[in-house]
Amino acid sequence: MSAVATPLATPAANGQLFANDAADRSLFGSHFDFKPFEFRHLLHRQEIFQLPALMELAARLSAKKDQKSHYESGTPDVNGYFGQRPQDQTMVQALESIRDGKNWVILKRIHEDPLYGQALESLIPELSALSGVDMKDVYYDPTLTVFITSPGRITPYHMDGETNFLAQIHGTKMVYIYDGHDKSILSNTDLENYWTGNLPKINLPAALPEGTWQWQLKPGNGVFNPAIFPHWLQNGPDVSVSVSINFKRKQNSIIGAHRTNHFARKLGLNPSEPGKSPAIDRLKTMTFGNLYETAHATRTKVRQRFGI
Ligand SMILES: [Fe+2]
Repeated sequence: MSAVATPLATPAANGQLFANDAADRSLFGSHFDFKPFEFRHLLHRQEIFQLPALMELAARLSAKKDQKSHYESGTPDVNGYFGQRPQDQTMVQALESIRDGKNWVILKRIHEDPLYGQALESLIPELSALSGVDMKDVYYDPTLTVFITSPGRITPYHMDGETNFLAQIHGTKMVYIYDGHDKSILSNTDLENYWTGNLPKINLPAALPEGTWQWQLKPGNGVFNPAIFPHWLQNGPDVSVSVSINFKRKQNSIIGAHRTNHFARKLGLNPSEPGKSPAIDRLKTMTFGNLYETAHATRTKVRQRFGI
């Protein structure tokens, strides 16, 4: 049975941004990249993550031609779709009305801004020390994202392909996470469709409206969410600011196996389930899985080059 975790004490201010005592290392060691867990941090005390600094960052990002940030307004259903950017509002205006509005602002890839790039670089060695995994060796594309959310707003049920540390900076929010390894929650067909870009939405399991696990986030704690573990969030009564630190795994033959299986089924075949045989998963990745990745990268470059 899942339960709301007891909020953790603030870590000692020893110059590090993540709590790193024996219990923290034990939790990271047993759960990292496998199962969600709560962690402690001091990111909420950093000037660069306070709302005034984030407003300035949003203005800088808005001035960039190729900025990827997103914002939307409204009251989505937990099992609903994400919205569109409002045509009558800029991202800075969405932030200015965040307290009284129904807005959701995602400042994406903020580490490409030098100030935040330095912050991300300083976090990676700490995460490596805690997890016992050399994050730069095993993962790629470390990314810093900030979510700023109006009071009470829901973030609909969805999943992400990156491994994710979500650290709370301001306000409170509930996070409901689902076991991505449970086939009754996420089927092999869902995964095949997701990894081939054919799954715009997953459906909330009716029997599990509040997740396999729940956490209440507040400034100073956070939750680790493994890649492809579905989740939804409900903001508390104040504006919420959360920082997401995420990574992509360099070697993941299960992704290649799911991609191969997607196309094998289209040919009328009944392929073996990924995760049962690492050798078969690697073989699938080396053949069609890599071919898919190359084709996808080429298609993305062509789209970016020609704006299509
Ligand atoms: Fe997410």
